[in-house]
Amino acid sequence: MSPHDLQTRLAADIADAPDLGALESVRVAALGKSGSVTALLKSLGAMDADSRAVEGPRIHALREAVTAALAAKKAALEDADLAKRLATEHVDLSLPAPDPLRGSIHPVSQVMDELTEIFADLGFAVAEGPEVEDDWHNFTALNIPETHPARAMHDTFYLSGTQDHPMVLRTHTSPVQIRTMMAESPPLRVIAPGRVYRSDSDATHTPMFHQIEGLVIDRKIHMGHLKWTLETFLKAFFERDDIVLRLRPSYFPFTEPSAEVDVGWSMDRGRRVVGGSEGWMEVLGAGMVHPRVIANCGLDPDEWQGFAFGTGVDRLAMLKYGMDDLRAFFDGDLRWIRHYGFSFLDVPTLSGGVGA
Ligand code: PHE
Repeated sequence: MSPHDLQTRLAADIADAPDLGALESVRVAALGKSGSVTALLKSLGAMDADSRAVEGPRIHALREAVTAALAAKKAALEDADLAKRLATEHVDLSLPAPDPLRGSIHPVSQVMDELTEIFADLGFAVAEGPEVEDDWHNFTALNIPETHPARAMHDTFYLSGTQDHPMVLRTHTSPVQIRTMMAESPPLRVIAPGRVYRSDSDATHTPMFHQIEGLVIDRKIHMGHLKWTLETFLKAFFERDDIVLRLRPSYFPFTEPSAEVDVGWSMDRGRRVVGGSEGWMEVLGAGMVHPRVIANCGLDPDEWQGFAFGTGVDRLAMLKYGMDDLRAFFDGDLRWIRHYGFSFLDVPTLSGGVGA
């Protein structure tokens, strides 16, 4: 077949190809290894120079024309395909979008937020202090004697401060009492939530844990104010009205008198919960701020009195939300946080806690 006839026939085949598969067959039959155009190209080798000079350009022009026709038809078929899909496929814009991956709030952060909220409603501001604290704020100013066991290396993480300025990882949030009294003038009402450190580790103790301190300094403050404040806070936090408190005489160097505060518990579906009065459990340390501590901060203890209290934030979380191993709080296990974590939409309030 002459290149001219072949071109006419191939042009018709290309034009008639109904889909991409058929077009590919036409391409293979023309330009493939044993295709008709390929055979013509091969025949050039056997020709004498004169014939080749005539036939060469024709056959090459044929190949180019066929290649171009194939490409044009391919593009046309693809366009038609797309147009068909656009005409038949629909995107339903009313379908709900998939949920974005959301994090959850750690119970410790949640409980700190709840406590901050509850005490804010009672007129308390939030105070902060450094976690790397000096020995004076952590111990001396709080009237803790040299011989007190808390000062021992096996209880406290000491850092390499200088001889006259030893540094520790704060063992409690009480140094924030000192910092607040020294930085601000009374009357004062603050809470100080934060991390504290002790050289201790078992199922109920981790070397780092969280405390919240409360401090009130004013004129004519007495234990009655302390008890009312704690009762109001515990009722709001545990979302129950049947909270009973018992103040047991105790000893802290920085309070006088001092008390351990017990709260009544009862059994609820096999779990010990706060509220009721089947038994007592200790939840706080508290007392009237020692006059010597007030004087250490440059205030006149005859004019100013106050109360202070401290408790474990992690323990409050465990009691309220029913976790039983403190170490799991700090394992970083996502399954645990998914199980116990909170949605950021759970906003705590004084009237209803997070349950509302
Ligand atoms: N700082 C004490 C502790 O860590 C708790 C406490 C705070 C006691 C304030 C009395 C007053 O155990």
